[in-house]
Amino acid sequence: MKKTKYLVLTLILVSLTNAYSQNRYPFSETGKLELPSKYRLLLVQEMIQIDSAMQKLVPLMVKGESEKASETALKIHNSFILKSALSKKELKNLKSLLPNDFIKMDRYFHRSAKKLSEALKINKLSESTNIYGKMLNACIGCHSKYAHNRFPELIKNNRNKNKSN
Ligand code: HEC
Repeated sequence: MKKTKYLVLTLILVSLTNAYSQNRYPFSETGKLELPSKYRLLLVQEMIQIDSAMQKLVPLMVKGESEKASETALKIHNSFILKSALSKKELKNLKSLLPNDFIKMDRYFHRSAKKLSEALKINKLSESTNIYGKMLNACIGCHSKYAHNRFPELIKNNRNKNKSN
């Protein structure tokens, strides 16, 4: 049990290190996301689902249960609660409210989940941890820019990061 915990921690640390070194998004930039509460609640629901799936992935990956992990990653790719719960008209409306960069980050994130699912399917574990790291980077990137009010610690960390550079 202890060993598994140690492995999980190591994997998370390796992923985070990857995430930071392959930083795709500018951390200091802040954007505005003002959504009507209906859309916001759906986004939060989607986030909770993604968060839970991301956490399930680590123990599956470190145990080499790549088939189950691949299915979980595919669930993340398919987790378009926002999309599936809205009518065509509402979707169009939502798109007009979302900043372009947010849409780009969201697409990148979902595409990575698909890549992760494919890599796991053919048991490429090392490539999978790499993609997992990039996905964490996408969480941090989008939250830093569009959820900084919600997660103010991210801004603080970024300031520290910039200082040390
Ligand atoms: C494209 C942007 C984007 C990406 C990518 C993204 N998030 Fe989020 N997330 C948000 C925004 C915006 C909020 C704040 C929603 C609000 O409270 O209005 C949020 C909120 C959350 C929350 C809080 C939900 C709650 O209980 O209210 C969690 C947990 C979360 N995200 C997890 C993740 C994880 C884990 C990842 C990556 C695996 C991720 N997010 C990727 C935009 C994103």
